[in-house]
Amino acid sequence: MAKDQAAALRTIAAQRASQRRRSEYSRVIVVTSGKGGVGKTNISVNLGIALAEQGLRVALMDADMGLANADILLGINPPYNLAHVINGEKTIKEIMAQGPAGLKLIAGGSGMTELADISRYNLSNLVNSLQDLDDALDILLIDTGAGITSSVLSFALAGDEILVVVTPDPTSLADAYGLVKVLDRRNHSASVRIVVNMCENQKQGQEVFTKLDGVAKRFLSRQLLWGGMVPRDAVVPRAVRAFQPFYLVYPRSQAAAAIRQLAGQITAESGSYQKETVSTGIGGFFRRLFGVGK
Ligand SMILES: Nc1ncnc2c1ncn2[C@@H]1O[C@H](COP(=O)(O)OP(=O)(O)OP(=O)(O)O)[C@@H](O)[C@H]1O
Ligand SMILES: [Mg+2]
Repeated sequence: MAKDQAAALRTIAAQRASQRRRSEYSRVIVVTSGKGGVGKTNISVNLGIALAEQGLRVALMDADMGLANADILLGINPPYNLAHVINGEKTIKEIMAQGPAGLKLIAGGSGMTELADISRYNLSNLVNSLQDLDDALDILLIDTGAGITSSVLSFALAGDEILVVVTPDPTSLADAYGLVKVLDRRNHSASVRIVVNMCENQKQGQEVFTKLDGVAKRFLSRQLLWGGMVPRDAVVPRAVRAFQPFYLVYPRSQAAAAIRQLAGQITAESGSYQKETVSTGIGGFFRRLFGVGK
């Protein structure tokens, strides 16, 4: 093929790609749980890498106001966090740290507590900056803290896609139902996907989901999405101790296979998230989160 012909084809392909990107909004997936310590951060980090490996532009925002630790699991030490965006020192793109497989990390840091009493002026700067992410990312994953306290819940209430992590432990199941109930009442249109972590086997994972889904159907007339199960796997704590994501260091483990499956399921659905309202995408998510107009 002539050189200029190839160049022309490349230009057309690039134009098509940019047109497609403009009509599709970035997806925001909020990872949360009723009970703490169920594996949200491990699932967020490794899922983020699995999605990035598929060629998607993915960032993980560490929105845990307590002990933020996505950076530790990724083995990176981001120099900047959201506080630098809030006080106007940096833009959101400048604070994104480079993680493995192209995954980016947005550290919340002290910025998460500063959000509580941010001025109106700084808030609109922050929201405008966050809105820039719509052009830069396909998926924004948000790792939150646990529970249904207002600060944690606000992320899940603003999200279109919520991933609730639960374990077979009865208290985790009860707390997950509590969270699902609140989401049903206060963010009814969101899709709620359940991932059962630390399962002894596939059967146990399905049983836990069936129980939760059954109660949600019966009392809330609501259908939950099955996100899959992640087995209890010794490679998870081993990788944590080595400050490395298990998905990368133990790619053939059962836990990594489960994450790969979850990532495949999430990308398979991308076509259904092309809503045409001003409140969608990353910009829309943060406008809802902070209760500011468009
Ligand atoms: N599938 C698994 N198999 C074995 N251990 C696991 C698994 N998932 C998580 N863990 C272990 O459980 C602990 C808690 O995991 P993680 O920090 O990801 O939970 P979390 O929900 O983010 O906690 P928090 O609510 O404190 O933010 C970690 O020590 C981790 O090693
Ligand atoms: Mg966590």
